[in-house]
Amino acid sequence: MIEINELTKRYGDTTAVRDLSFTVRPGRVTGFLGPNGAGKTTTLRILLGLVEPSAGTATVDGHAFRHHRRGLRHVGALLDAGDVHGGRSARAHLGALARSNRIPARRVDEVLTEVGLVGGAARRRVGGFSLGMRQRLGIATALLGDPPVLLFDEPLNGLDPEGVLWVRRLFRRLAAEGRTVFVSSHLMSEMEHTADELIVIGRGELIAAESLTEFAARGTAPTVTVRSPDSAALAAVLASEGATVASYDEETLQVAGLSAERVGELAFEHRFLIRELTTRAASLETAFMELTADSVEYTAGDQR
Ligand SMILES: Nc1ncnc2c1ncn2[C@@H]1O[C@H](COP(=O)(O)OP(=O)(O)OP(=O)(O)O)[C@@H](O)[C@H]1O
Ligand SMILES: [Mg+2]
Repeated sequence: MIEINELTKRYGDTTAVRDLSFTVRPGRVTGFLGPNGAGKTTTLRILLGLVEPSAGTATVDGHAFRHHRRGLRHVGALLDAGDVHGGRSARAHLGALARSNRIPARRVDEVLTEVGLVGGAARRRVGGFSLGMRQRLGIATALLGDPPVLLFDEPLNGLDPEGVLWVRRLFRRLAAEGRTVFVSSHLMSEMEHTADELIVIGRGELIAAESLTEFAARGTAPTVTVRSPDSAALAAVLASEGATVASYDEETLQVAGLSAERVGELAFEHRFLIRELTTRAASLETAFMELTADSVEYTAGDQR
């Protein structure tokens, strides 16, 4: 179990993490979400003992990481995928890590196979790796010690669609094996098919800690798109039934607060010709953007 307790990290004037508290439980995939600059990487670096917190604690199974004697065999992590000596091969890199962490040498080939770095790829110098290959090597590194706790910082960056599916299945399997799997991302769309639980932060502060199901339930209600040549009159009828109606173009209305079925019934009763009637589920991405709107630090075109 990962426990973050009243954690604060200041860099000069910048407060990267502010009074942050949450727990991450084993047996599930927990997504760590927040816009760019929210403090995700900082939190993970503190967990790994790479950065000293200004206040508060970050522990794995009750202890700070540096007090874990089993190191990589207890906590596996993918932080910066570029952080590998470029002159080594993937196999040599993992072999050195295995030796220094007293991990059996056979694990090297097991994890290389697991992440698909086989044949020539395992022997090539890491310096020539593509971003996706580096991510795969980073994931192999995290898995090397067969640890019960795994941390991944933006592991889907640079992966192709096949790679994304593979990583999702891998995370699900690791969680099903009873491990703690904590995965950061700045994109809800990456988490919605991967995570069971969500920790959402913005500007270093906790915004939400709940299951994906709970998050989806708080999301914006689905909207109905209806197209009719007499859209203005139809809009009036729908509004009188309590719907919130926005007109999209001359014919098209976006309707919130009524089901497609009810819109269809009303149109039939009032003899409106309908050319389109569709329900659009509110995306979790929209809910995430609404939730974090106040804590987005970098906005395109922002003149600050
Ligand atoms: N070493 C550092 N020195 C100064 N400021 C830092 C340092 N590391 C992080 N920060 C600042 O702390 C804040 C949080 O950064 P962090 O990298 O943790 O965010 P993040 O959530 O990982 O963002 P991203 O999605 O872009 O990776 C940012 O404002 C960043 O500029
Ligand atoms: Mg980051």
